[in-house]
Amino acid sequence: METAPKSSSPFFFNLIFVLVLISSNLLTYLITTTSFFSPTLTATTEKTLTITTPPTKDVPEEDLIPLEPSVETKPTPEIELASEFQALTSPQKLPLGFNPNFGADFLLPPVGRPCSQFPDELNMYMSYKVNGSCPDDELLAQKLLLKGCEPLPRRRCRPAAAEEYAEPFPVPESYWTTPPDSSVVWTAYTCKNYTCLVNRRRNQKAFDDCKDCFDLQGREKDRWVGPSIEGSLDFSVDEVLAVKKPGTIRIGLDIGGGVATFAVRMKERNITIVTTSINLNGPFNNFIASRGVIPLYMTISQRLPFFDNTLDIVHSMHVLSNWIPTTLMHFLFFDIYRVLRPGGLFWLDHFFCVGDQLEQVYIPLIDSIGFTKVKWVVGKKLDRGPELREMYLSALLEKPLKNSW
Ligand SMILES: *[C@@H]1O[C@H](CO)[C@@H](O)[C@H](O)[C@H]1NC(C)=O
Ligand SMILES: *[C@@H]1O[C@H](CO)[C@@H](O)[C@H](O)[C@H]1NC(C)=O
Ligand SMILES: *[C@@H]1O[C@H](CO)[C@@H](O)[C@H](O)[C@H]1NC(C)=O
Repeated sequence: METAPKSSSPFFFNLIFVLVLISSNLLTYLITTTSFFSPTLTATTEKTLTITTPPTKDVPEEDLIPLEPSVETKPTPEIELASEFQALTSPQKLPLGFNPNFGADFLLPPVGRPCSQFPDELNMYMSYKVNGSCPDDELLAQKLLLKGCEPLPRRRCRPAAAEEYAEPFPVPESYWTTPPDSSVVWTAYTCKNYTCLVNRRRNQKAFDDCKDCFDLQGREKDRWVGPSIEGSLDFSVDEVLAVKKPGTIRIGLDIGGGVATFAVRMKERNITIVTTSINLNGPFNNFIASRGVIPLYMTISQRLPFFDNTLDIVHSMHVLSNWIPTTLMHFLFFDIYRVLRPGGLFWLDHFFCVGDQLEQVYIPLIDSIGFTKVKWVVGKKLDRGPELREMYLSALLEKPLKNSW
């Protein structure tokens, strides 16, 4: 195993950390309010960095921001974290010294704050042979990710891959062709080939996310290209694009975009869309990449990796709905607003909720962001019976061109 922190952390460097820790009230406050999740690095008399829990009780009550919604969180366990995790996350001194852009002479490579709250899984994930092959542990990694260990720690090993990888079909054939089975490591999924995934809507009783998505000749084929019907929840790509001057919608993001049929439809119109997707019992990311559009492996919890005021369009279908904690949703909608350029479009497609939630929670929430409503359709979802009062909202929202700040 590597012991990077030992050799790269001279005493002086540790001393800076001690000084910073004890001299700054602000830092103490920050550390303490995050203490449920993140161990903080403190220097010991040895020349290694060890991980301890800061004492929460020493901080005045008024310094603590209440966690909302209040969820019982486990205290940081006293389990020692894997040496590879420490090698990655310990402060790493910059070889060229102080960097004014950083305002520091060290780097703290980021991992999700909650990572260390799951020490057993984290240690399993971070135990591997350095310079060797990684364990085939996609499911473990994704569980950590979905629980908030995002970004996952980097590893120094080669990821599992098919023994004989089949290269993708050329564009445009790749857009609508099922990729070769040997482009995927199937370990994490119930299905072990694409034939099984394509047929699972017919053959499989149990629920699965996007169960019929892999069948490119099925429902996927008609999504967003049907005729535009007044008052329908299904907007078409072309009717949405017609809202703006031709050619001005060029780049964008699809959040939770399944197998990225939206991105393919847009690519056919010379528009570049990046699709976030998680591999929920299927190789969504591989499939998207095989089609020839870009998958982004991230959850809805993470800050969008785009700069302010940059994207022309953000789309999301079926993913944003009432399963998401309301506070997180508020942050997420503001983040979408942030990355959209003034005049950019947010296409909220089939947002699902129940009963009074729309009036009570989601309309005020959406109104608070600052979008202009271009289209707004609410429709009842009746397939499980009207008494459940299930409904969808499809909306086309625009970030104001002027005074969007
Ligand atoms: C891995 O490779 C690096 C770079 O060559 C080397 O410094 C390190 O000692 C290797 N680690 C192990 C455990 O083999
Ligand atoms: C695909 O996997 C199923 C089991 O999941 C198996 O029965 C079938 O023979 C496989 N088909 C191909 C073409 O490999
Ligand atoms: C996409 O771009 C190509 C190359 O610039 C052009 O030939 C084609 O007509 C464009 N397609 C559409 C639908 O705009």
